Amino acid sequence: MWAEKDIEKVLVTEEQIENKAKELGAKITEDYKAIGSTPLLVALLRGSVPFFAELCKNIDLDIQYDFMDVSSYVGRHSTGEIRILKDLDTPVKDQDILLVEDIVDTGKTIQAVIELLYHRGARSVKIVTLLDKPSGRTNHLQADYIGFEVGNEFVIGFGMDFDQKYRCLPFIGVLKPECYTSKE
Ligand code: IMP
Repeated sequence: MWAEKDIEKVLVTEEQIENKAKELGAKITEDYKAIGSTPLLVALLRGSVPFFAELCKNIDLDIQYDFMDVSSYVGRHSTGEIRILKDLDTPVKDQDILLVEDIVDTGKTIQAVIELLYHRGARSVKIVTLLDKPSGRTNHLQADYIGFEVGNEFVIGFGMDFDQKYRCLPFIGVLKPECYTSKE
C-alpha cells in the first residue's frame, strides 16, 4: 500500500470503524425513535465524509443529509469564530440536527457551528464524532456519540489529513515523525 512507509502505527482498523458505525447507528436510531423524530444529518466537510458514509447506512430512519464547510480561526477572543466556506442548502428551523464530525479536538469549530444552528432556529443539535481528543479541549463541549477516544497525538486516515494527504486510508493511524518534520 502506497502509504505504508509513512505509517508509524495503526490506531483503529477498518473493521473496528465498521463495527463502531453499526453500534452508533443502532444507538442513534433507538434514541431518535424514542423521541419520535428523524434528525437532519449535517456532515462537516471534508474530514467527516468517510465516517458519515459509513454511519448513515446504519441509521434505520428516513434521514436526510446536508453538508457544510467551515474554517475555524481564533481571533483575539478565545471563543473561536468560524468562516462559512459552504453553507447548508436545507433550512434548519425546528429541525433536530445531528452534526457529524471526524474528530473533536479543541471543540471550537463544533461549538461555533452549534451556536450558529441554534441561532437559525434548530430545535436540537447533537454531535456524533468518530474520534474524540479530550486532551485538546479548550471548552466544555462533549459529543453525544463518540466512536473512539484518542490521546494527544495527530492522527490521519478515514477522512483525516495531514497537508491534504492520507484522507482516503481505510484506517486511522499516526504518521512517522519524519513525515511531519519534512514539511516544516
Ligand atoms: P477543533 O475546532 O480543534 O475541535 O477542530 C477540529 C478539526 O480539526 C477536525 O474536524 C479536524 O479537521 C482537525 N483536527 C483536529 N485534530 C486533528 C488530528 O489529529 N488529525 C487531523 N485533523 C485534526
